[in-house]
Amino acid sequence: MPLRRDHLCGVLGKKDVDKKVVLAGWVRKRRDHGGLIFIDLGDKSGITQVVFNPEINKESHLQARSLREGWVIAAAGRVEARPPDSINPKLSTGEIEVMAEDLEILNISQSLPFPIEDEIETSEEVRLKYRYLDLRRPIMQKNLKLRYEVTKEVRNFLDKKGFMEIETPFLTRSTPEGARDYLVPSRVNPGEFYALPQSPQLFKQLLMVAGFDKYFQIVRCFRDEDLRADRQPEHTQIDIEASFISEEDIYALVEEMLANIFKKILGISLPLPFPRFSYKEAIDRFGIDRPDIRFGLELKDISELAGKTEFGIFQKALEEGGQVKGLRLPGGTSLSRKDLDELSRWITLYGAKGLAWFLLTEKGIKSPLVKFIPQSILLKIIESMEGEKGDALFFIADKKEIVAQSLAHLRLHLAKKFNLIPRDTYKPVWVVEFPLFERDEEGELTPCHHPFTSPKEEDLPLLEEAPQKVKARSYDIVLNGEEIGGGSIRIHKRKVQERVLEILGIDPVKAKERFGFLLDALSFGAPPHGGIAFGLDRLVMIIAGASSIREVIPFPKTQKAVSLLTQAPSPVDEEQLKELHIRLREDESPPE
Ligand code: AMO
Ligand code: AMP
Repeated sequence: MPLRRDHLCGVLGKKDVDKKVVLAGWVRKRRDHGGLIFIDLGDKSGITQVVFNPEINKESHLQARSLREGWVIAAAGRVEARPPDSINPKLSTGEIEVMAEDLEILNISQSLPFPIEDEIETSEEVRLKYRYLDLRRPIMQKNLKLRYEVTKEVRNFLDKKGFMEIETPFLTRSTPEGARDYLVPSRVNPGEFYALPQSPQLFKQLLMVAGFDKYFQIVRCFRDEDLRADRQPEHTQIDIEASFISEEDIYALVEEMLANIFKKILGISLPLPFPRFSYKEAIDRFGIDRPDIRFGLELKDISELAGKTEFGIFQKALEEGGQVKGLRLPGGTSLSRKDLDELSRWITLYGAKGLAWFLLTEKGIKSPLVKFIPQSILLKIIESMEGEKGDALFFIADKKEIVAQSLAHLRLHLAKKFNLIPRDTYKPVWVVEFPLFERDEEGELTPCHHPFTSPKEEDLPLLEEAPQKVKARSYDIVLNGEEIGGGSIRIHKRKVQERVLEILGIDPVKAKERFGFLLDALSFGAPPHGGIAFGLDRLVMIIAGASSIREVIPFPKTQKAVSLLTQAPSPVDEEQLKELHIRLREDESPPE
């Protein structure tokens, strides 16, 4: 009779001594001590040591000789207490072992490309190719369980608050969120395409027009964009929308939801309310609209004092309307000349032309720039930076955007290098008061959030004369320097929506073609409404303490949007293309 599992591998302990059990799982390790064979038998719950003794069952012992890592077996036997000197405190089951009486080999395995353990030095490519083995590792099991727990908390929480989960289509029209669309050709409508949604934005607004009042969805979103550690072509959002609400209602809901998750999952109380920064303040103090406030190193503007020096680079930047800003690194005098040269080179990656530095050493101020700066001004600069002995001061002179961007990178880089970021600390902040529009690389106005975000009521008159000065009713939620969510109060009046689209260069004809259904809906008594969406992957990544969202996604894609497991995307048969009415351009045909 086949053996029937009655316990998981990670649950047995002293209390079970003398019990007869059947375990099933994978051979994690095999040690053959001549007489006895020791097997670490593992599953999702942990590991139990199973011992094969020829004196108990000769045949099983012989079979156990052939076992290899990765084989699947069931073993029946009696739980015994381990002798004190062989207790393994690292295992939850380390006080016992199972003396096997019977063995059944359920499947064999090729030799594994890497061990099923947390600490492995395997490349990510290999891990992704054999993802099903990678996911067997305890850390990955833990990460996915955590993801499940977080989504479960979110569902429970929103349900209690009266929100209802509603599905929205994947085969739809473009929903612009600033990325390119993934398109799906229609077989039955030659030459026509669906777009996969970049978010359910338009549908959740339609659900408000439909009177659902409080909607949420844990939903996949598809974006064809340049990928980074915190971006995937398909990511999951916790998407929320509600009617008759204001910004304050959203802040309160989200703060309670996050506090609830952190309490239940990590046992940590997040202090409420979360601090709020205006977009301008975030840029001024941190150089970036997703400030990491777990550590200091804040930026200071010394443009006025810099104007009084004779340093040409400072002068030139200021004359051209730029800025000179810097930051103070406590203990920075430990940096060597080589470190400083490397930093000065590295910073050019972010557009800066160089890095001015001052070391406030015991023996005085060290800097290649001392000769350009009168002593009295230098002292004032140090004073305004609150510099102390042992500090390094860094400055960048350039256009505002470059100063902000490069100092934001420098701040983070130095914080990491000098271990200034406290572990297991979570600092959520709101960033608010965003402009409605920004200029893209071609100088065209684009929405800072998305085109359905409402301008501030008091800025409506500016929409005509100075659209770039209009503030948006939008908000981002940032956790430890990651943008984990964003949303806005929406435009609910057709006229305003048409005007905003027009300012974005979408004339009424095009607007009707692309967003006619939304504009129509707005003209049928759309209620005032707004919402937010969280990047679930990013939130779980932070809670898991992982370094990339790929660590909390079961089957992620690479930076080139490829699945190393399935080899998607892949060429398709000519026949399939024909059915879809598609002919590939010759220069872009896939390789034979
Ligand atoms: P937004 O575009 O800001 O807003 O997206 C919301 C959140 O989703 C996460 N996110 C991503 N995560 C992983 N990979 C990606 N490629 C990716 N893109 C976005 C981020 C982000 O904060 N419809 C609006 C929300 C609204 O207005 O309610 C929207 O999608 O954490
Ligand atoms: P240079 O005269 O170009 O050798 O620069 C003298 C010092 O000023 C070097 O330490 C440079 O890294 C620094 N520097 C150059 N350009 C800038 C800039 N835009 N902002 C701050 N420091 C700079």
